[in-house]
This record gives sequence, structure tokens and C-alpha cells, in this order.
Amino acid sequence: MNNRIRNIAAFALLALGTLVPIQAQKVTNHSIRSGEIWLDTDGNPINAHGSGLLYHDGTYYWYGEYKQGETILPDWATWECYRTDVTGVSCYSSKDLLNWKFEGIVLPAIKDDPKHDLHPSKVLERPKVIYNEKTKKFVMWAHVESADYSKAAAGVAISDSPTGQFTYLGNFRPNDAMSRDQTLFVDDDGRAYQFYSSENNQTMYISLLTDDYLKPSGRFTRNFIGQSREAPAVFKYKGKYYLLTSGCTGWDPNKAELAVADSVMGEWKTIGNPCTGTDADKTFYAQSTYVQQVGGKKDAYIAMFDRWNKKNLKDSRYVWLPVSLEEGKITIPWHEEWDMEVFADKPRFEVDKNTFLLNDKSFV
Ligand code: GAL
Repeated sequence: MNNRIRNIAAFALLALGTLVPIQAQKVTNHSIRSGEIWLDTDGNPINAHGSGLLYHDGTYYWYGEYKQGETILPDWATWECYRTDVTGVSCYSSKDLLNWKFEGIVLPAIKDDPKHDLHPSKVLERPKVIYNEKTKKFVMWAHVESADYSKAAAGVAISDSPTGQFTYLGNFRPNDAMSRDQTLFVDDDGRAYQFYSSENNQTMYISLLTDDYLKPSGRFTRNFIGQSREAPAVFKYKGKYYLLTSGCTGWDPNKAELAVADSVMGEWKTIGNPCTGTDADKTFYAQSTYVQQVGGKKDAYIAMFDRWNKKNLKDSRYVWLPVSLEEGKITIPWHEEWDMEVFADKPRFEVDKNTFLLNDKSFV
């Protein structure tokens, strides 16, 4: 090909490229494979770590730490506080918990104020969003930190819509106590609670929030005193409260623990490690972040974990597993791959005098 023909061909390709928009690759997911790269509906890796879910009006919203750029260990570090700059909190939406549409960064970093909690030089972790029926507001709580993790505070943001933008209201130490790993839980009566690792991560505080969910009410309890539990995830099953936590080993995995209580503020009783199967003693090389009840399904819960990649945090993966409730025992068995069929009603087989009952149909 001579130069003239080559130039014409290049021009034609360029012109075609501007006229015909390149079709974004649409992705459909059919199952959950923990630890693999999960793609959103545009074909990009899902980036939402230390996450929490919100089920609102038939849609799930997934909020998490949007980790971008290089992971660094600061020069002054005396421990493994690997970090990426704060970029913000991302949000994805889904109807089926498998296919997630990127809704954008709903709480972005504030780049022009080095003192701001959301400045890239700070740390923003474990965002959770709840909906307040009375105020009709979406309320986000997150762990806001200094790069050396000495701030230990909670930051609160608010929005009229689940997909933001959220307005940042500020930070404080709830109940005048340190607040690092944290989650939120809304009970059936509409009361909301913050669970947070306090007293240098040694003690788990459970704090009732004000009716608008924006502050601590002043009522709180100290739990698991001196036991160093982190990464709290709460759910309610058959009237009892369950709390899934990790131990305290930074980005490295350790053994999970489940606890149960009759009342949300305690007293909590430790049951043991609910994980079973391959690498269960290391929580499948992951750390708890949230437990989501599957909307519309009775007794169906998904336990969600982060498999941190401490040297490349943005490539940390997700481990989501169905909670097994067989015979009243709560376990989280490892599954290589699973789909929502695991929550389908199990065939019921009962003998009633001379009648067999199978899925509520009788066979004489
Ligand atoms: C973990 C915590 C993470 C992050 C990390 C930093 O213990 O669960 O959210 O804070 O420490 O090393």
C-alpha cells in the first residue's frame, strides 16, 4: 500500500469511528463466583469495597469504597497501613443481585481542601446507607480517617435519592468514643443502630441513632469488651439478632465469628465460626462487610465479604455466599459458584396420616 492509499484508509476509519459510536459491551451475569473479577452491566470491574447494600422499592443499591490508583505504604508507616487515595463512594443498582449498573460516585472526594475528610490524602471506609421513612432521606455513615488511622471518626452524609449526590454533613466520634470499622442496622420498628469498633478496636459499641438517623441518640452499649472484633455485619432472623465479625489483623484474613442476641443492644453471646468448607478458618481469605436479606424471600440471606489485596487494593475481590439455615443452624458454606436458585423453596415432604404432602400438594 502506498502512502496516499494508507492515509485515505486511515482517514476513512477515523471518520467511521466518529460516525458509528463504539457499542459498549453489555454484560449479563447468571451466577456468583466469589473471588473473580465481577463486571458491571457496562463490562467494567465493579469497584465498591467495604460495602453495604440497601434494598429500596424493589431495587438493590450497592455502596462501597471506590478504590483507584496506586496502593502505597507511606514512608512513615510503622504497620501495614497500605492505602489508596480517597476517590469517593460508588453506587451500583440491581434488580437481581447479579447484574449491577454503575450509578456513579455518589459521594466524591473533595480535591481542593486538604483539611476536608473527603480529601484524597485521607481514608474513607465501610460506607453504609439506610433509608429514613420519616424524613424520606437516604443517610450514609462511613468510617472517616486520617492516613495514619488516628482520627477514628464517623462521617455522615445525606441525600434525597439513593443514587445521590450525597451531601457531606461532617464527622464526630460517636458517644465521644473512637469509631473505625462500622455498619448500620435498621430494626423492624424503624429504629437504627450504628455498630462500631471502638476503644482502639478492642470493644464493639452499639449505638441507637436519633430518629432522623443523623446522630447518636446517647444510648449505647459496650460489647465484646477487649475481644478486638471488627468488620461488623448484622442481620435479624426469626426474631433474634446475629452479628458477624472478623478478628483484628489489618488487611490480612482471620477467623470469623458469629454472635446472637435477643435484643439488638445486647447481651450478645458468641456462637463460633459460621464458615465451613475450604479455607473456612481464614474466612475464605476475606473479611465480612454486610449481610443482605434477599427481598421477597423468606429466610434468604447473603453474607458479603471483601477479599483484600493489600498491595493492590483496587483489585480486591468480593466473596458473596448464601447463608445456610438448615435445621436452625447458621453456617456460611463455601461455594465455588452459585445462583439465586439456592433460595428456592425446598420440597416439603411430610407424612400426615395417610396423606403425603409435597410442596403443599397432597398425594393419597
Ligand atoms: C482492617 C479494617 C479495614 C481497614 C484495614 C486497614 O482491619 O477492617 O476496613 O481499615 O484494617 O488496615
